[in-house]
Amino acid sequence: MGLFDNMLKDNESLFMNEIALDYDFMPKILKFRENEQQRIAECIRPLFQKRNGSNMIVHGAPGIGKTVAAKKVLENLEEETDDIIPIYINCWQNNSTYKIILEMCEKLNYKLTMNKNTVELMKIVVGLLNKKTSVLVFDEIDKADDLDFLYTFLEQLYRKSIILITNYKTHVLKMDDRIKSRLTPETLEFKPYNSEEINGILRQRLEWAFVNSVWDEEAFQLVAAKTLEFEDMRKGLYLLKESGNAAETKSSRKITMEHVKKAIEKLESFSKTDLSQLSDNEKKILELIKQNPNCRMGDLYKQVQEKTKDSISYKTFQRTVEKLAKLKLITAKKITGGAEGSTKILNPKEKKLTEF
Ligand SMILES: Nc1ncnc2c1ncn2[C@@H]1O[C@H](COP(=O)(O)OP(=O)(O)OP(=O)(O)O)[C@@H](O)[C@H]1O
Ligand SMILES: [Mg+2]
Repeated sequence: MGLFDNMLKDNESLFMNEIALDYDFMPKILKFRENEQQRIAECIRPLFQKRNGSNMIVHGAPGIGKTVAAKKVLENLEEETDDIIPIYINCWQNNSTYKIILEMCEKLNYKLTMNKNTVELMKIVVGLLNKKTSVLVFDEIDKADDLDFLYTFLEQLYRKSIILITNYKTHVLKMDDRIKSRLTPETLEFKPYNSEEINGILRQRLEWAFVNSVWDEEAFQLVAAKTLEFEDMRKGLYLLKESGNAAETKSSRKITMEHVKKAIEKLESFSKTDLSQLSDNEKKILELIKQNPNCRMGDLYKQVQEKTKDSISYKTFQRTVEKLAKLKLITAKKITGGAEGSTKILNPKEKKLTEF
């Protein structure tokens, strides 16, 4: 055997179809989320009989298939009928009523948006949607700065089904009563995948993405085990891709444990750095913000006083909040008016892999 037999040549790659590892890649058939897709479909079903649909709040941890399952249902709906308009909006990318409406205009192919304000555009969108029935999915709804659009749709659309997706189960409880009483949603919780499901999903993506038999079985099992630990499919996809890159860098024809370990190191190094510089009290405050999304400064301070051993002054608490916001671990949004004058609304900011 020659010294370089095991090395990749310039024009060779371990990847066959790298796109299959992208976070927004949509598999043709979505396995292991059949029941969840079914539940979403049930909310929509009445629309087929010209009745009003149900609304739903979908919640669960990051990276466990909420977005992809909802998009799949819309895709199926589109194949099934022209009478129902399916619209998907990400409220993180479009976080104000104006941006959401503008995005909806684009999806509805309405182009004359220049020089029109939110109210005018809203009227147009409502008009277009009311020509038929509609299914509106608002993903990452907790990232929307205002919910005026939601109120208007609930109030003015005749026949629709509104699906809201969020990481936080409690988010809907914090909505304005006028929205809550109109929404009366079903709830659907996504639970993390178990070991068998993670194996199945990753193996399928691996088969699409890589050249046949370049993966050592043991190395693949390590990726699956790590993904189970993180409970986040995005991390599994990241590890598959980075392990492949690590192997290619070494011109290896096989992806082995060594390459997966490199990828894990890389993943863990940027997941951990931010927290290592926090004191115990700062970590505790961060934890409380995570447990109480959308909390006002004053309310959170009360909890901090109850739940931390040594008493923390309001000033120290304020400084910690500023530090956490600076580190981009939380968001602190100033709001003015209301009974308490101005305050800040605190929210955890989970870093997604796409942000690193
Ligand atoms: N059952 C599955 N089969 C194949 N791929 C999946 C499955 N579930 C999730 N994935 C993939 O895992 C990644 C994360 O899924 P998705 O974006 O739906 O997560 P999410 O629950 O919406 O997370 P977040 O709350 O962070 O938005 C995506 O790339 C998605 O394609
Ligand atoms: Mg999502």
